[in-house]
Amino acid sequence: MNILVVGSGGREHALVWKIKQSPKVAKIYCAPGNAGIAKDAVCVDIAAGDIQALADFAEKNAIDLTVAGPEECLVKGISDEFAKRGLKVFGPDKACAEFENSKAFTKQFLQKYQIPTAKYEEYTDPNEAKARCGAFGYPAVIKADGLAAGKGVIIAADEEEALSAIDQIMVHKDFGASGDKIVLEEFLTGTEASVLCFLDGRSIVPMESARDYKNIYDGNIGPNTGGMGTYSPNELFDAALEQRVYSEILEPILAGMQREGLDYRGVLFVGLMIEKAEPKVLEFNVRFGDPETQSVLMRLETDLVDIMEACNAQRLGEIKLDWSKEAAVCVVMASGGYPAAYEKEKKITGLENTDGAVVFHAGTALKDDNIVTNGGRVLGVTCRAENRQQARECAYRNIEKISFEGAYYRKDIAK
Ligand code: AMP
Ligand code: GLY
Repeated sequence: MNILVVGSGGREHALVWKIKQSPKVAKIYCAPGNAGIAKDAVCVDIAAGDIQALADFAEKNAIDLTVAGPEECLVKGISDEFAKRGLKVFGPDKACAEFENSKAFTKQFLQKYQIPTAKYEEYTDPNEAKARCGAFGYPAVIKADGLAAGKGVIIAADEEEALSAIDQIMVHKDFGASGDKIVLEEFLTGTEASVLCFLDGRSIVPMESARDYKNIYDGNIGPNTGGMGTYSPNELFDAALEQRVYSEILEPILAGMQREGLDYRGVLFVGLMIEKAEPKVLEFNVRFGDPETQSVLMRLETDLVDIMEACNAQRLGEIKLDWSKEAAVCVVMASGGYPAAYEKEKKITGLENTDGAVVFHAGTALKDDNIVTNGGRVLGVTCRAENRQQARECAYRNIEKISFEGAYYRKDIAK
């Protein structure tokens, strides 16, 4: 098979790394890819959002399966466009991608099917929103309805911050049209967990659980990022919680989708908040998580291409997912300044000295034969070992061998 992976981050590097292990695969392309991906796949210079160019490429290069990494191409309808041309994509269609494209859409769905989630209200008028911003007390959670690259959620400590968040999103349009509507939510406390699931329209199969670290600083403080590290499994997930998540959340999600006529095939990322063993849904993403994928795929023993084909052919029920009992830890090395402004093109050294770790590239590029930084999150240093402590030690031992000017990473991932 010839496979095309769409995207350029650490998640896509992990997908390429895993897909490459399939005996079915002859050639892997990645659009646009990065300097690390280029060692495992042929990178093609097409933007992840350019659906027409991607479809043209897939036609010309006899691509058997295209794997959609980021949400942008899914929301733009890559699956629908490819289907029109008789091309196969792993990733949900545009109607299903609405679960990530609109937080209000997801909240309405969760409420309709009585799936546990934070209380909410939605507003299209900033003055009405301002009048109600304290409805659930403080802190208040204010979210731009649409896509905002993970930055559209503001936790406002008091009324002053809430009013300014509403202005920022709805009046100053910091996230463009994504802020035409906001969702105001009750603030939930507890511990977060990410559960990525495979769906084939008929069944929903969770992968092993993961934990993501969203804040930039140790101790979970500072602004939200795309994710500074992950580990899998998430120790919160004992058999009882797993069962509860399945029966109270995952089964009703599938049943609700079927009732709504949504034929969801692909990966659904279910973000959960867990307090006193009680799970509530925070959000859905319609794709693999980044950096959850880096640690979860390190533990997947089953051929990922088999699973993706089974999802598309509604044969997921025939596949058994095998997981390593070992733990995986991914620590992200970021550019100094991220998630605010940061400099690029810093030369990265020491990559060749790592041992026992898989270094997934996120924001890297090749410049004059050097690998240089090219994004906020630069690398995801990932290890698998007998237990989490050992995997963590391996990741940090290796991270110390790599350097670039301004490099920053959290010291408390998987602690
Ligand atoms: P989301 O993109 O909706 O997952 O929000 C991003 C992050 O904001 C989550 O991972 C949480 O850390 C936080 N968050 C979102 N919604 C809530 C909520 N209702 N209560 C507390 N924290 C939240
Ligand atoms: N790590 C969270 C996300 O992929 O959105």
